[in-house]
Amino acid sequence: MGGKKPEGMVLINDQGLRLDGRRPDQLRNLKIEAGVLKQADGSCYLEWGGNKVMAAVYGPRECHPRHDQDPTKARVRVRYNMAAFSVSDRKRPGPDRRSQEISKISSEALDHIVLASLYPRNAIDVFIEILEAEAGTRCAGLTAACVALADAGIPMKGMVASVAAGKIDGVVCLDLSREEDNFGETDFPVAYVAGTNEIVLLQQDGHFSPEEIDRALELTAKAAQEIYALQKAALLRKYESMAQSGADEERAEDAESASAQPEAEPDAAPDEEPHADVAAEPEAETTHEEVR
Ligand code: CDP
Repeated sequence: MGGKKPEGMVLINDQGLRLDGRRPDQLRNLKIEAGVLKQADGSCYLEWGGNKVMAAVYGPRECHPRHDQDPTKARVRVRYNMAAFSVSDRKRPGPDRRSQEISKISSEALDHIVLASLYPRNAIDVFIEILEAEAGTRCAGLTAACVALADAGIPMKGMVASVAAGKIDGVVCLDLSREEDNFGETDFPVAYVAGTNEIVLLQQDGHFSPEEIDRALELTAKAAQEIYALQKAALLRKYESMAQSGADEERAEDAESASAQPEAEPDAAPDEEPHADVAAEPEAETTHEEVR
């Protein structure tokens, strides 16, 4: 934000389109996948424009160190980390002031939605790893973290969807890209609770007039609905595929026991129903459909 714009660089052209061809109110492409890590209690992988983000959740589990425990509720602890290879200039590994700030604001945002009082003395640890960065990583990280929390089965009062607005060449735009973030005038990340539209994160770098703030809130609130729909779809896909693989396993077990059946035949009573195996099959199908 606020970098010196190269001479002649136009962030919004005469047709009102941005460098990557988007309209001012358009999001970058967003892909969300839930439940991608086996070892974590919940996880999410997200690609948003040039951002690639992994979020993992562990817990609720006993909070360590013990002096961090809260007897009334769980601690929601977020660690945001940018991989050394995530940006064009190698980022020095380890925490810096920026990642500490993002970890703190993300913890505070998620603390508002997690029903933490259900788990006194526990910790819910959320890890956000930025694998590739192209502006808007705090919003991408928070959006992924929320899907990972839901995937871990953590009770929440709603999902959080986060997106930034900003000002480029004097125009309020949604979801800034890297050039827009570098050479634009304002960056304005917001996070909303789906359903209530409660704001759990709002930051501003640069200047906005009151009218521009209204426009930025309008753009981000609308986009948050779109993001929430993708979060929900990712979680549904995960549970559908779980149900599908559960049904496949059941079918494989049925097939295994059916193929074991002929060996038992010599002992069968002579007046036994000859097509008992065949008759059992539709029943298994019905169960499969029910599970789905
Ligand atoms: O990523 P976000 O917009 O939430 O935070 P930022 O501090 O405004 O950073 C904007 C962008 O600058 C990041 O997304 C990265 O693409 C880039 N950046 C970088 O290249 N090297 C860093 N050490 C930090 C950020």
